[in-house]
Amino acid sequence: MNVPDLEIYLTDRDLARSLRSDVRAGLTATPKWLPPKWFYDARGSALFEEITRLPEYYPTRAERAILRARAPEIALLTEAKTLVELGSGSSEKTRLLLDALCRHGTLGAFIPLDVSVTALGEAVSALRSEYPGLAVHGIVDDFTRHLRLPPHGGARLVAFLGGTLGNLLPDERHDFLAGLRAAVEPGEWLLLGADLVKDERLLLPAYDDAAGVTAEFNRNVLRVINRELHAGFDAEAFDHVARWDAANEWIEMRLRARDAMRVSIKDLDLVVEFAAGEQVRTEVSAKFRRHGLERELDAAGFAPYRWWTDPDGLFAVSLSRAR
Ligand code: SAH
Ligand code: AVI
Repeated sequence: MNVPDLEIYLTDRDLARSLRSDVRAGLTATPKWLPPKWFYDARGSALFEEITRLPEYYPTRAERAILRARAPEIALLTEAKTLVELGSGSSEKTRLLLDALCRHGTLGAFIPLDVSVTALGEAVSALRSEYPGLAVHGIVDDFTRHLRLPPHGGARLVAFLGGTLGNLLPDERHDFLAGLRAAVEPGEWLLLGADLVKDERLLLPAYDDAAGVTAEFNRNVLRVINRELHAGFDAEAFDHVARWDAANEWIEMRLRARDAMRVSIKDLDLVVEFAAGEQVRTEVSAKFRRHGLERELDAAGFAPYRWWTDPDGLFAVSLSRAR
């Protein structure tokens, strides 16, 4: 890969430090947990892209349908000069926004931000050649830390797509929205993709596909810990679990130890014990209702402006404006 220049707000050292502290905190807790941001090394990002093409995983297709239908209207309403994308990954659907904003004639810069250097590097290389007239600045950062956006030429639209907001726990979500509001100016825009509450029979297969790609994505966090912290997980000794938590209205992904085991994490000088059947929570994926999400946006200082869904009502894209 031809690695383009990226702005590094989060260095390899910061990343290593934060992985160590997350793994120590999560695997010494009861019940055990790991934060989902560690799925996304090169392999994890590629597995996520594979998930987006699975027949069971409807969110990407539904969100793409909304963006295809609404991108010209979004360009007209926002007249954005700078598009910032948080958790941008491959920025595949974002091209619909870039095309509409370029056609509208206002856009000068695109700023994708992601914790995954590989996914971001690949996306930035491709986008620079596809959009030669656009300034593309990739930023490596963790959007759950104090969010800093680079100086800009006015009229920003911040996109946070894919339903990734749902991967934050309620307190993290609150802090994230407040931090984002503090990082933008009154009048600037937020375009948010959110997966909606629906029948469990549609939700669960999206997180437990027949081909087992989501299971591999889930186990990937153990492979990341093995590589980065010299740990001894046998990833195949863990089963993939996806559950619908009806009280919290979120999908929870877990890894379940098939047998009792002790795993050494050399760089943490830690041995973690697992009982047979013990589960580690690796991700929540919250599903939203319009009223609840708009109330959260409003409380954070974003006035809800538009709400669009796909024809089947599976997924929503909300446009709101900083007050
Ligand atoms: N927006 C894309 C990708 C979603 S996958 C889409 O809609 O398809 C989630 C992306 O968010 C991954 O690329 C992952 O690396 C990134 N990500 C997850 N947690 C993050 C964090 N805390 N800070 C920055 N990026 C994060
Ligand atoms: C990135 N995020 C919105 C995905 C989701 O659906 O919560 C991550 C994912 N986890 C399992 N499959 C996809």
